[in-house]
Amino acid sequence: MQPTKWLEQNDASIIADLGKLVGIQSISTDGEHQKELSHCADATCELMRSAGLDSVTVLKTGDSNPYAYGEWLGAPGKPTVFLYAHHDVQPVKGFEDDWHSPPWTLTERDGRLYGRGAADDKGAIVTQLGAIASHLKTRGKLPVNIKMLVEGEEEVGSANLQGFFIENKDRLMSDVIVVCDTENVEVGLPCITYALRGIVELHVEVRTAQAPVHSGMAGGVLPDAAIALNVILSRLYWDHKKLPVPGLYDKVRKMTASEKRAAKKVGGDETQWRKDQGILDGVDLALEKNVSPNEATWRKPAISVIVQEASSMRNKSNQVLPSAQAYVSCRIVPDQDPDEVYENIKAVLVKDPPWNVKVNVKPTAKLKWWMTDPTGPAFTAAQKALKKGFGVKPIPIGCGGSIGFVGPLAELFGGAPALLLGIEDPLSKAHAPNESLHAGDFRKLTASLSHLFDQLGDLPDGKVK
Ligand code: BES
Ligand code: MN
Repeated sequence: MQPTKWLEQNDASIIADLGKLVGIQSISTDGEHQKELSHCADATCELMRSAGLDSVTVLKTGDSNPYAYGEWLGAPGKPTVFLYAHHDVQPVKGFEDDWHSPPWTLTERDGRLYGRGAADDKGAIVTQLGAIASHLKTRGKLPVNIKMLVEGEEEVGSANLQGFFIENKDRLMSDVIVVCDTENVEVGLPCITYALRGIVELHVEVRTAQAPVHSGMAGGVLPDAAIALNVILSRLYWDHKKLPVPGLYDKVRKMTASEKRAAKKVGGDETQWRKDQGILDGVDLALEKNVSPNEATWRKPAISVIVQEASSMRNKSNQVLPSAQAYVSCRIVPDQDPDEVYENIKAVLVKDPPWNVKVNVKPTAKLKWWMTDPTGPAFTAAQKALKKGFGVKPIPIGCGGSIGFVGPLAELFGGAPALLLGIEDPLSKAHAPNESLHAGDFRKLTASLSHLFDQLGDLPDGKVK
């Protein structure tokens, strides 16, 4: 039987496997779901075994969440493919009522599979295992070697992953990396992501007094920490210009005219963009003049205040607040240096504090950007495989998001090509209520991966680059 025929015949059980994983509340962001994360790693191992992988095991390093690992090494002389996915998910708390079907029950509606983690990134686990099984169940072998790692703390920054890779370098060493944790810009259009942004995150805290004071007594005298913090944060307002951070753009690599043209052609126009992102009528896009949304997210730095806190709504009372804090997150692009970006932003935040309030800034995350040249044998193999699986020629895209390990791992593997194949689409709503996976594209991606193994197995002398 053809592997893709096997996929068609086993479609229901593959979707049921995804249902099993979505049913596990493997939330990594609150530190309260260790049991579920363990359960999810075990369930992933179970699926790896039934797909036919060998040496399947749960791995850990230090106090990491559990990784699921499995391999198949029966193709000597053929390339070894490192498959990555993550089994941890974002929370649903506070937004349960916005879901149209229960978040932890995979539910099909209008050709989409709804559930937390269906797209990000449990779909990737099942798509990869489906492609593996399609070969092992029909031919008893794979055209390439496989090493598959499913991590459990991607949604909280993969703090242990790099250490884990270095610790297990020999065991994990591979020729090509395949990740399904990015986007296709349209349903039915396969996309190969060749660039990711990095992140520099800063914690900024303003302090004015030891404790809150009655606002009747101290209002007008004691500096207001919440207002002081917001005066400081407002210095980051960019209107439609460049971000007002001296030095920030010094190393930003210019997009060439042809890169700009290519970026403009990808995806919908601004109207579509507004609709997909749910931007309210009458609210402007925050774009710099003459910069398209793709150019902005692929190749420009961006700053967001991802949270701020001075008190809580529940504790509202007539007080002048003595402290306020925020996390400022900056997405960074080629060729910015994370340390320099941190210093540049810090300089803006600590300069001339209103009322001379105490301002303390510290770095909380630094992640490098990644960009590759999407050509060479491995990319050609991926293009052919996606063309076969989707019936449509794939396109290369940049990405505004971050997947921190891709660059360092490719380097650790001696410059291995990394193939980032899209699994999400503009309607997937990863991290948000009503997350979903397009069932048709999911099937096409699984078939494409099955073809990709064939393509990589056919490369002359097993040369992937
Ligand atoms: N799947 C995303 C990365 C992504 C974002 C791909 C947007 C395509 C479009 C990934 O799971 C993610 O959310 N990464 C985090 C990294 C952070 C926790 C270090 C991100 O980008 O915020
Ligand atoms: Mn994510």
